[in-house]
Amino acid sequence: MTDVTSRKPPSSTITGEILGTPLAKKKKPEPVAVVIFGATGDLSGRKLLPALFNLMLDGSLGEPTVILGVSRQSYTPQQFAEQMKPKVAEFSRQKMDGGSWDKFASMIDYCGGEFGDDAVYLELKKHLDAAKAKGTKGNRVFYLSVPPSVFPIILEKLEKHKLIEKHVQDGTVPACRVIVEKPFGRDLKSARALNEMIGGYVDESQIYRIDHYLGKETVQNILVLRFGNSIFEPLWNRNHVDHVEITAAETIGIEGRGTFYEQTGVVRDIIQNHLLQVMSLVTMEVPASFGADDIRDEKSQVLRSVRNLTLNDVANHCVRGQYRTYRDEDGVAKDSQVPTFAAMRFMIDSWRWQGVPFFLRAGKKLAERVTEVNIHFKSVPLVLFKEEAAGSVLQPAVLTLRIQPHEGISLRFVAKVPGEHINVGNVLMTMTYADAFKRPIAEAYERLLLDCMRGDATLFNRRDSVDRAWELIQPALQVWEATPGVHIYEDGSAGPPTADEMMGREGYSWTELIPGR
Ligand code: BG6
Repeated sequence: MTDVTSRKPPSSTITGEILGTPLAKKKKPEPVAVVIFGATGDLSGRKLLPALFNLMLDGSLGEPTVILGVSRQSYTPQQFAEQMKPKVAEFSRQKMDGGSWDKFASMIDYCGGEFGDDAVYLELKKHLDAAKAKGTKGNRVFYLSVPPSVFPIILEKLEKHKLIEKHVQDGTVPACRVIVEKPFGRDLKSARALNEMIGGYVDESQIYRIDHYLGKETVQNILVLRFGNSIFEPLWNRNHVDHVEITAAETIGIEGRGTFYEQTGVVRDIIQNHLLQVMSLVTMEVPASFGADDIRDEKSQVLRSVRNLTLNDVANHCVRGQYRTYRDEDGVAKDSQVPTFAAMRFMIDSWRWQGVPFFLRAGKKLAERVTEVNIHFKSVPLVLFKEEAAGSVLQPAVLTLRIQPHEGISLRFVAKVPGEHINVGNVLMTMTYADAFKRPIAEAYERLLLDCMRGDATLFNRRDSVDRAWELIQPALQVWEATPGVHIYEDGSAGPPTADEMMGREGYSWTELIPGR
């Protein structure tokens, strides 16, 4: 059989035509003050400020929007802005020119001091009052870009100084919202305690638990592909789908975050949140509407149907690995057992998915940077042209949802190779967003910050699904933390060979990771 597929996507074979003019545009958010705790940290410089800068360039921010940094360092607002300028320039999606930076810098304000110190909040109150006088109408978004252990300190002080208040649900958007970063807790118990604690200060409708994967265009498109086309949904079930792979492979290592990573590991860092969220979007039932709660209800429902892992599953259907040079990284113990790679098989006990295995894999320092969902369809029941295909095995169709890079969708299927014999070859039909729509793809944080400023929680995690995701990975965490046995893999490889053996035992193999794709 001729294989004419290449995982390197060719330029798009499909042209995107944007139907209906003009393009629907969401309303601008209300004026707001965005208060970033941990404003001088890595996330703020690499993601949050560049995202806000791009939103300003796109004209998407409410007017006025005030960006108020809070951090330990004592800077004036001008000094803080100058510190952030090179980061915004480096990580911004769009180019910075003098004029655009000056405009952005004029939106920036800053308060410095220890998070446990009342003086910081007295100062913050003055700055928020000044923002209100400029026209932010008392709307506040507090972004807690700090470790979860600091959340209670900040929330207690914000409440004490009357900077947050509990919203009474009445259908209106709460004036005050709180964004919290992942990982949300360390395990089920601590996540529940954290939820209880935050719930003491603000209502669930005010809590925006961020998982930046949900802000990726390609992740959002999973629902549009499934529910905006009538051709996929009839095939989207156990009768037609053989198995599903969800991969998040990175080529980078832990990037100097040794202390954080030693506490976290890949299961907490990627699988508990990003991959289980993607799996829930791929597997959920049709929601009653595209509203926040209807979508979140279905996601939560399917996570409840995922079968709990038993000790036997952890032993036979889960694999942990660690890249060879991990223990040489700063802040990492010389005998660390923390996994930087994990592969896990989940089953879903529902009418739609009974018997279909879902293989999730994530890791650092792997051969290729790729995040994708591969939906492998069943083989044909009878090969009619065996003889002519001269011993070749017909490969079943695979639908690939490529989250990143080369964002797009491809379908691999067989076709006749032109000629007098019935020879079959695999072909790949590919759509890339870049070619199809010729529009830049916004960064996930841009979309998520904008949604929070608008008061739309659809792309944020609700408490029930966060809890359930912890429950699902808990058995693996418990076994792995109690028993050493991480498998070392070479930097730049496809992960530990045991991950291949795990798939092989079930008669499957992972989609290959191809370096430099
Ligand atoms: C973060 C993890 O949530 O996601 C990082 O903490 C990881 O370890 C990152 O590198 C990957 O995000 P992306 O968008 O590059 O796939």
